[in-house]
Amino acid sequence: MTENVTKTILITGASRGLGLALARRLARENWTLIIDARGAEDLETARTELAQQTRVIALPGDVSGEEHRQALAEAAYEAGGLDALVNNASILGPSPQPQLLDYPIGVLEEVYRTNAFAPLALVQSLRNELKPGARIINVTSDAAVEPYEGWGGYGSSKAALEQLSAILAAENPSLRVYRVDPGDMRTQMQGEAFPGEDISDRPLPEESVPGLLELLEGDLPSGRYEARALIRTSKG
Ligand SMILES: NC(=O)c1ccc[n+]([C@@H]2O[C@H](COP(=O)([O-])OP(=O)(O)OC[C@H]3O[C@@H](n4cnc5c(N)ncnc54)[C@H](OP(=O)(O)O)[C@@H]3O)[C@@H](O)[C@H]2O)c1
Repeated sequence: MTENVTKTILITGASRGLGLALARRLARENWTLIIDARGAEDLETARTELAQQTRVIALPGDVSGEEHRQALAEAAYEAGGLDALVNNASILGPSPQPQLLDYPIGVLEEVYRTNAFAPLALVQSLRNELKPGARIINVTSDAAVEPYEGWGGYGSSKAALEQLSAILAAENPSLRVYRVDPGDMRTQMQGEAFPGEDISDRPLPEESVPGLLELLEGDLPSGRYEARALIRTSKG
């Protein structure tokens, strides 16, 4: 009965990497897409491609900026509300990553602003646009839970996002709030994390997309998931 109802999703950071891979998959299913990224040129390239398959609203801007988040909320309102929000946009911080004793605190603040505060602030801005039962996917990392040397800045910002997600879920039982580790992926961020190294053995972000689809379209409870393990589970 609901097959022809178009769903609407806001994906942050969808000009490349995992965000673009997910947007491409959902465009094939005719979801209306609201996407952003800071780089306007790459975002426009993505919009042009995706718009061949579905309705796309692309707004260049930085998720850590209040005005930009407000513009995203207005776009969500005009689109008739959101079935899902994917907080995917994220920064690594300096490359190579400094150890915590050497980490410039001002830079750490920027990492937290983008990776932890912005996703929560975006949910706050969108609170009236989230349809009942809307899905929120906050993309985190194994670095949020494992004490890898050199990953203290990025990893602790993702740990904060994990706990924000868990408590948001507890406080809002009408929403599904997922925190998801997509696994290592062959993307620009992975290249920045391992400068000068060959990262060609990492799976493409497309391999993490089916797990995200399971969260968007399945019936899983709020919680923490690993995207690629989810695919294996759902296939039995
Ligand atoms: N790659 C991995 O191995 C890996 C592993 C675990 C978790 N993750 C997580 O997976 C997610 C996707 O990562 P990825 O590897 O696909 O990264 P990526 O290739 O660097 O892509 C990041 C996307 O986010 C956008 N972006 C970054 N900062 C932004 C900001 N402040 N405001 C708006 N857009 C912003 C980027 O465009 P602009 O630069 O133009 O803004 C780009 O579109 C991230 O949350 C990351 O932490 C990645």
